[in-house]
Amino acid sequence: MSPTRITGTGSAAPRNVVTNQDLEKIMDTNDEWITQRTGIKSRHIALPGEKFSDFAVPAARQAMALAGIDAADLDMIICGTLTPDTRMPSGGCCVQALLDADRAFAFDVCAACSGFVYGLSIADRELRFRPDQQILVVGGDVVSHHVDWRDRATAVLFGDGVGAAVLTGAGETGHRLLSVELGSNGKLGELLNIRGIGSAAPVTAKDYDPDDNYIRMQGREIFKHAIKNMVEISYRAMKNAGIEPEQITKIIPHQANLRIIEMLAKQFRVPMERVFVNIQSYGNTSAGTIPIALDEAARGGFLEPGDMVLLTVFGGGLTWGAAVIEWE
Ligand code: COA
Repeated sequence: MSPTRITGTGSAAPRNVVTNQDLEKIMDTNDEWITQRTGIKSRHIALPGEKFSDFAVPAARQAMALAGIDAADLDMIICGTLTPDTRMPSGGCCVQALLDADRAFAFDVCAACSGFVYGLSIADRELRFRPDQQILVVGGDVVSHHVDWRDRATAVLFGDGVGAAVLTGAGETGHRLLSVELGSNGKLGELLNIRGIGSAAPVTAKDYDPDDNYIRMQGREIFKHAIKNMVEISYRAMKNAGIEPEQITKIIPHQANLRIIEMLAKQFRVPMERVFVNIQSYGNTSAGTIPIALDEAARGGFLEPGDMVLLTVFGGGLTWGAAVIEWE
């Protein structure tokens, strides 16, 4: 069976940067608290009018350029996002139209921060049946549109950005995706939610509360579940890839909290210099964290031929996932 390969990556984020010092001016917070508790120093925040496709399309174009394919070659577009431009058409269909990827079919995966890794899994399964396909997986969010700037407990954490990757089972070059594993627990969904907009709380309801448009999170609880589930799913991904934990040489973790990243590094006995961290300049970009980090790690030379790379992610739903890639 031909292995699934990642042949190109790309990423894009809004130009507008908001620092911790900027936040100090609009809410009761400070750089020291944010840095110590999260590792975040600044984040990219979309300006009014900026939307998901403004970043998804350039990220996709970069990934296709590296993969050496055109939009016309795409068979499928999967968008892991919570924040498509519109509910209908989907984020995937918007991206398809803007790219002129007329031969593809496109859809969204709603798995919050885990959306990109969920997309990798779907692409991997598809390629087992038809390896010759070219699949674009996009992951990212303009999550700032759901941030309540009065709520310091969440507002300091998030940023906007989108990443993308091209996957195929055709050809002999590209980084081999050895395994992808997913998990979720809907019973704990209340710990991290956006209550409004859905059919349970439609904007047309007389008693619609605009505050329901915002992300709410029980940070401490999420912290515990994030570590437990990312550790478990990562071991499962390594086992299914047929490798021992000691063989992992680099980790690209979800960028939600530097303390969580450090705990994961310790658990897998990988020194921090071999763990990719860009949380300081992005914050948590939701489904964007993994593909943006993967793209920066690839382009910046952090990933080297022979590396065994672990991706691990956790998000609302609750959802989580992990993947192992052999870098070529
Ligand atoms: N600035 C200053 N103080 C703040 C603050 C801010 N931005 N946000 C909260 N605080 C205060 C709280 O009010 C609280 O004050 P109190 O002790 O007087 O009540 C104190 O800081 C501690 O708050 P707490 O929420 O317990 O902090 P924490 O150490 O748990 O850190 C998070 C908060 C959100 C950074 C952390 O819980 C976290 O990262 N959780 C996981 C997030 C995650 O992984 N998400 C992934 C899914 S997207």
